[in-house]
Amino acid sequence: MLKKMIPAAVAGLLAANLLSGFFAGDAKKGKEVFEQCGVCHNADSTEKKMGPGLKGLFKKGKLGNGKPVNEANVKAIIDAGGNGMPAYESILSKDEKDHVLAYLKTL
Ligand code: HEC
Repeated sequence: MLKKMIPAAVAGLLAANLLSGFFAGDAKKGKEVFEQCGVCHNADSTEKKMGPGLKGLFKKGKLGNGKPVNEANVKAIIDAGGNGMPAYESILSKDEKDHVLAYLKTL
């Protein structure tokens, strides 16, 4: 009985994730993760704090390092940090990074 229920539960969860669009990351949770980025980054403007303001990040063409703005390149910056930004590679979990990426896309 249980053996049959588990795949059904997994399928249900997958469907729920797909339907709500939260498969990659949850922007609401990402907002909480972003609290530790907010010390250095504005989320509601492009004005520089310690680092550049991140409003409209995914709507602009290029990052400060000249690379195109996409998930992989933004994630690379979050992982590696540099020039005053801490490296989050081992500070944030994979899920937290997915969430914060989803949140950044809403800015
Ligand atoms: C101690 C301050 C500090 C913290 C905390 C910080 N950053 Fe940064 N961040 C910076 C600085 C400074 C830069 C610019 C680095 C450069 O010029 O190469 C930067 C650059 C970036 C960029 C590139 C922006 C662009 O337009 O090129 C992104 C994206 C970013 N940070 C996201 C984050 C996220 C997400 C977090 C939290 C997980 C975070 N940062 C936490 C200081 C910080």
